[in-house]
Amino acid sequence: MELKDQIDRKKLPAHVAVIMDGNGRWAKKKGKHRIFGHKNGVTSVREITEAAAELGIQYLTLYAFSTENWNRPQTEIDALMSLLVSSLSAETKTLMKNNVRLLPIGDLKSLPSNVHKKFSSCINKTAGNTGTSLVLAIGYSSRWEIADAARRIALEVSKGEINVEDINSKLLSKYINTLEIPDPDILIRTSGEYRVSNFLLWQIAYSELYFTDTLWPDFRKDDFFEAILNFQNRERRFGKTSEQVG
Ligand code: IPE
Ligand code: IPE
Ligand code: MG
Repeated sequence: MELKDQIDRKKLPAHVAVIMDGNGRWAKKKGKHRIFGHKNGVTSVREITEAAAELGIQYLTLYAFSTENWNRPQTEIDALMSLLVSSLSAETKTLMKNNVRLLPIGDLKSLPSNVHKKFSSCINKTAGNTGTSLVLAIGYSSRWEIADAARRIALEVSKGEINVEDINSKLLSKYINTLEIPDPDILIRTSGEYRVSNFLLWQIAYSELYFTDTLWPDFRKDDFFEAILNFQNRERRFGKTSEQVG
C-alpha cells in the first residue's frame, strides 16, 4: 500500500511546521554553489505544499528565511531575495490550482520593498482560497516575535486598555504573530540538525518533533507522508498519564 493511503485521515495534524534545512550542503555535495541548492529547494516547497493540500492539512508553515539569515554573505541574501520574488510569481498558479491561501509571519518591514510588494500581492491574490493555508516565515525569528508581542501589550497597558492582572498565556498568544493559527502538531526539520534555530519557540510547547537526515532539496511527498505516519503513531499526553489519554 502506498504511504499516502496508510495515513488515517481522521487523525491528521491541523498544523505542520517545517524547518527547511540543508540546501547549501546539498549543492556542495554536487560541487555546485549554495544558490543551486536554494533553487532546487523550491521544487520541494511545491511538492510539500501539494502534499499538504492533497491530505487536507489546514496549516503548513515553512521557515524560509530567519532574522539571523541576514548575517549571511550579501550575495547569498540577494540571491535568496530574488529567488523569493521569482518563485512567488511562478508558483501563484500552483497555489490557485490547489486552493491554497498564502499567509506571512515575520518582520515584513525588514524585507526589501520589491519582496514585500510581491509577497503582499500573492497574499491578496490567494486570500479567497479555502484549502490549506501556507504560512511563510520570512524575516522571522521567534525571539523577535515574542519581544514584539511584549512591546505591543506594554503599549496597551500604558493606554489603560489592558490590566496587568489580565496578562496570561492566552492573552500573549493573541499578540504573537501566528494569531488565530493553531499551534503546530508536528515540527519537521530536515538535514540531520537537531535544533530549533529560533523558530516558533512559543508555539511548539507541545509539538511533536521529527528530524530527518534528508536534505531539503531531496525532500519529496513520500518523505512528508512518512513524517505524518510517524506522528500518527505517537501518543500525545499534554502532561496527563497514558491511561488518561488512552
Ligand atoms: C536552508 O538551507 C535555507 C535557508 C536557511 C535559507 P541552508 O542554506 O541553511 O543550507 P545548509 O544548512 O547550509 O546546508
Ligand atoms: C534555519 O536554518 C532557518 C531556516 C530554515 C530559514 P539555518 O541553516 O539558518 O539554521 P542554523 O544556523 O544552522 O541553526
Ligand atoms: Mg542551514
